[in-house]
Amino acid sequence: MDIPRIFNITESAHRIHNPITPDKLASLGAALRLEAGTQVLDLGSGSGEMLCTWARDHGIVGTGVDMSQLFTEQARQRAEALGVADRVSFIHGDAAGHVAHEPVDVAACVGATWIGGGVAGTLALLARSLRPGGMILIGEPFWRQLPPTEAAAQGCLAHGISDFQLLPQLLASFGNLGYDVVEMMLADQDGWDRYEAAKWLTMRHWLAANPDDELVPVVRAQLHNEPVRYATYTREYLGWGVFALMQR
Ligand SMILES: C[S@@+](CC[C@H](N)C(=O)[O-])C[C@H]1O[C@@H](n2cnc3c(N)ncnc32)[C@H](O)[C@@H]1O
Repeated sequence: MDIPRIFNITESAHRIHNPITPDKLASLGAALRLEAGTQVLDLGSGSGEMLCTWARDHGIVGTGVDMSQLFTEQARQRAEALGVADRVSFIHGDAAGHVAHEPVDVAACVGATWIGGGVAGTLALLARSLRPGGMILIGEPFWRQLPPTEAAAQGCLAHGISDFQLLPQLLASFGNLGYDVVEMMLADQDGWDRYEAAKWLTMRHWLAANPDDELVPVVRAQLHNEPVRYATYTREYLGWGVFALMQR
């Protein structure tokens, strides 16, 4: 079981697989006023940076679940490197339907809401692991400005304009689902650059090291096309944020 190999290649050097920067991740941890011993579940935990750094900085304890074998292994290594391997653990597996054995204080899905079939389904999934009065963290894209055409939305790698909402509408949708929005941390274009542009050097190094791999044409094409596509579309139109929610 694994995610498509292309992501394991292009994001192999990422610690954070989203447009949030280390600074903003740290600011979010502080903004949430996490106390030592806070139990956190993270579905789609990637390389574990959120759980590992929050364990180091705030003494949280937690579990991450991720379908990428590579990212899960990197998360375990990061926990060892930061000296928090006794506080956080990482499960390699499909997080769809994953419910914690014991209710947690914070249940998160940061940039992988397809795991629950969209935002509403992921909120419902996370709520099954949450103690009463606990907090949900959802990482989700929104339109910074509406793309002028469906083709422009597709240039952002969306199916179409209807995939995402403007920020006020996204915030209102959380309310309509019965949640108060109690904090948010928004990515900016510099953060998008760190997430997207960091893939380009990784691809270039991978191509040099793997000249005979069957994915060479795919990676070569991505490296050729991605900088212009990204600058034309994603960087202009797509926003992203982590939203902290508490049930009303
Ligand atoms: C955009 S990345 C976000 C990772 C992490 N939350 C972060 O911010 O660094 C999405 C993650 O979801 C994982 N993923 C995709 N489908 C999954 C599934 N069905 N179950 C668990 N993890 C999944 C991917 O391996 C990837 O690590």
